[in-house]
Amino acid sequence: MATDPHALIALARECLERSYAPYSRFHVAAAVVDDRGRVFTGVNVENVSYGLSMCAERVAIFSAIAAGARHITALAVASSGTVLLSPCGACRQVVAEFAAPDVPVYCEAAGEPHYWTVGELLPDTFAAPQLRKS
Ligand code: THU
Repeated sequence: MATDPHALIALARECLERSYAPYSRFHVAAAVVDDRGRVFTGVNVENVSYGLSMCAERVAIFSAIAAGARHITALAVASSGTVLLSPCGACRQVVAEFAAPDVPVYCEAAGEPHYWTVGELLPDTFAAPQLRKS
């Protein structure tokens, strides 16, 4: 159920009402699946000090990691907007930490799921091997 794009997007959409976005009024929710089939959700959480706001994708991923997950196998994002949302740059880097390049990222446009792979969203990722010292 959980990796079905429609079901995962629907789950994210159900969470939209819990988004805390009094400043932008742009509500975002995300659902991630881990390699054990567990599903974790998140919403954007804004702050009066705007820069402290956190995106829904990272809230969902951090929730998964806090529960012991280390490998994300799918991600879905829903928003209150009318235009297709694709995850912001900061979220792409965080997603790439825990998801392989072929992992799908589902969003929604006019009721139809649209997807990219993690590798399409963030090619040539800065990754752990680059930290190697000479
Ligand atoms: N936002 C997300 O939650 N995810 C994204 O990928 C893009 C932006 C949130 C952050 C902020 O609360 C609001 O959307 C407007 O930028």
